[in-house]
Amino acid sequence: MSVMGYGAALAYVPGMACGWKGKRTMNELAVESAGGAAASRAIYYSPQKAFDRPVAPILPVVFAEQRARAFDPACPSGFVACDLSVYLGSDWPASTPTMLARYVVIRAGEAVAHTLQASGLVYYVLRGAGTAQCGDESFAWGQRDSFCMPGGEEVALSSEGGAILMVFTDEPLISYLRGRADPAAGRRVAPALFTFDRVEQGLRDVHGQNGEQLAAGKSVLLVTEPMAARKLATPGLLASYNSLEAGGDQRPHLHCSGALTLSIAGEGVHSQVDGVAVPWEPDTLIVTPPYAEHSHHNRGPEMMLSFVVQDTALYTELRTLHFEWTDQEGAPTG
Ligand SMILES: [Fe+2]
Repeated sequence: MSVMGYGAALAYVPGMACGWKGKRTMNELAVESAGGAAASRAIYYSPQKAFDRPVAPILPVVFAEQRARAFDPACPSGFVACDLSVYLGSDWPASTPTMLARYVVIRAGEAVAHTLQASGLVYYVLRGAGTAQCGDESFAWGQRDSFCMPGGEEVALSSEGGAILMVFTDEPLISYLRGRADPAAGRRVAPALFTFDRVEQGLRDVHGQNGEQLAAGKSVLLVTEPMAARKLATPGLLASYNSLEAGGDQRPHLHCSGALTLSIAGEGVHSQVDGVAVPWEPDTLIVTPPYAEHSHHNRGPEMMLSFVVQDTALYTELRTLHFEWTDQEGAPTG
């Protein structure tokens, strides 16, 4: 017997499902009868209705206070987390249930080192320049560059003149699963540097293309070699530079993935999220909740630029991304 759609790849193996029926020793039976602790921890629940698993809603939060702390000249080197765990009800820092963003502040002449339990790390450089070190590799980065690093390995960032970055991870997802980053699991996300001049070139190409808008944004995606087939930055995160010309309106749409959007250029920009206007602020992160109808609008005189990280990877893996334009019927391409 084979499972429909999988052909011979997933065949029923006789005897596999009844392997538990093997004989147990007297010792095992004695442990079972005396082992009341394990049995006492078992909880049995008969649902009276479907979907009665209460979770706090994910709201379109603007992390203005965290931005102010990170850019305060008195802020010491280290992290300023965009942490909503109190509101989300999680026991670990989280910006959304699957993603965490932190400002990384490096005072002049100092270094910040960390080992983060994530499938991979995505950094964006808000201010300054410096160097990154991971294992025996190091490279220089500058303002508006971005880079990826492997999870579960020490990363050291240093800056002669001081710098402020933002680092995005999927640590909340790993924490929820009670897991740990295993560099040996799958192919490592090796350090990868994305320079802004190459990104700008890509954005110019996108804006030079006319015709119907098939993608949600005029963007350049950051892809690492192990995740090239999925067009992802890390196994858990999609990362992109997004843009919107002065006076431009993004087509309203929705998807099951949530987004963390960092404003990096432009003014007079706002998002509409489920009918509510959310004004953007410079260098400030915004949560776009999953499955909320949303669109961005640029009423300022300059090109809007943003750095966007989404948990699209997870929904793609589950085959449940469910992207949909909400202004008219149309088939999206990404
Ligand atoms: Fe979107």
